Amino acid sequence: MRPEHLDGVLSIEHRSFPNPWTRTAFASHLEHPEFAKYLVAITQNQVIGYTGLFFGGGQGQITNLAIDPDRRRQGIGTRLFLAMIDHCQALGLEGLSLEVRVANESAQTLYERFGFAKVGQRKGYYQETGEDAYVMCLFDLCKKEQTDKLEAIRKGLNNREFSDNLSD
Ligand SMILES: CC(C)(COP(=O)(O)OP(=O)(O)OC[C@H]1O[C@@H](n2cnc3c(N)ncnc32)[C@H](O)[C@@H]1OP(=O)(O)O)[C@@H](O)C(=O)NCCC(=O)NCCS
Repeated sequence: MRPEHLDGVLSIEHRSFPNPWTRTAFASHLEHPEFAKYLVAITQNQVIGYTGLFFGGGQGQITNLAIDPDRRRQGIGTRLFLAMIDHCQALGLEGLSLEVRVANESAQTLYERFGFAKVGQRKGYYQETGEDAYVMCLFDLCKKEQTDKLEAIRKGLNNREFSDNLSD
């Protein structure tokens, strides 16, 4: 993700979340590649999805994942997330965590496919709606079992529609 992608990213962010991140929030992470990594999916010069990571001390936190509402259920979220997990492995991270709304079953299903498990629940985590968050974690990121899981997901994507750019 680069500064010129932010208009497209914010458009998706506003259509995806009741508490969208601001331009400043994204921009401040982009200024710190030593602890943040953001990927975008682009087709016909248009951002159609993005995901973000905050990392340090061998651990990472997934900060964002969203796909353009008109382009969901085409494997783009899976492809982006796979690219991010590949990057986490390349960084040598041992584990990952994230928060997800309790009602957001589609995202939970995606995360579970990647090996994330629910490990806790934060009461009223989303202040604007009072919703709880599940805390989900993926342990042992570089274990063979996990690498095999990623390969199976990669193979499963070969037949899916989206084959355009994923970009830093
Ligand atoms: C969650 C999200 C990123 C998934 O992106 P996507 O590109 O639609 O996901 P994919 O097409 O790769 O789907 C992967 C799997 O997730 C699950 N899934 C995704 N959308 C689903 C839905 N609406 N209902 C049920 N399962 C769903 C399915 O298991 C799907 O696999 P399948 O299509 O083979 O059945 C997307 O729905 C989104 O942007 N949601 C709003 C933002 C959000 O909630 N982000 C997560 C914050 S924690």
